[in-house]
Amino acid sequence: MERKATAILISGRGSNMQALIDAAKDADFPARIVRVISNTWDAGGLKRAEGAGIATSVIDHRAFKGRAAFEAALDQALRADGIEIVCLAGFMRLLTAGFVEGWHDKLINIHPSLLPAFPGLDTHARALAAGVRFAGCTVHYVRPTMDEGPIIVQAAVPVLPEDDEASLSARVLAAEHKAYPLALRLVASGRTQVVRERVQISGGEAPDGLVLNPLP
Ligand code: GRF
Repeated sequence: MERKATAILISGRGSNMQALIDAAKDADFPARIVRVISNTWDAGGLKRAEGAGIATSVIDHRAFKGRAAFEAALDQALRADGIEIVCLAGFMRLLTAGFVEGWHDKLINIHPSLLPAFPGLDTHARALAAGVRFAGCTVHYVRPTMDEGPIIVQAAVPVLPEDDEASLSARVLAAEHKAYPLALRLVASGRTQVVRERVQISGGEAPDGLVLNPLP
């Protein structure tokens, strides 16, 4: 089996990155994590990646004059490694259409809400304020509009009456750590196909342990 060369872009603690690295330790996982790139030196995830024996780099956006130059450096680094799939995992830079289109259907992101509800920041506070009964996370292909793009996997969790932001985000995060490896597995094994901006998934799969979107 050819395992797809995958990079993970982070800006912070990297718990989703860790979940992907852990999943890819399995020789049967269809993606191998080649490199972790952070746009900031103080991302806690860098140490975790190094601890797992993964190559890391920092491409500090502040060192570049403007977004285009930063993205050109990022693009070059990814291509130099022969990267085939890019996973955004708490990567806190907006990417322009130029970059995004260069990685069309090869660039995926995780967002801590059931998109299209609550794109952007402070999703858990907004979900609590709205009184929704379910929260969750979404892994989607990246398009130029932030937190928008064909949905690969969603996982739903209940919102409990006593929840605050911390308890809800912890419950969603646990779901993220299952949803992201599942989504990367589907994408890397070639089982996803984007048709009219919706993801079709081939082959059967019955994920367990949490409410994930049913797969055919
Ligand atoms: C996660 O909630 C992810 O959905 C969002 O940013 C957070 C990153 O957390 N995009 P971590 O760095 O993966 O722990």
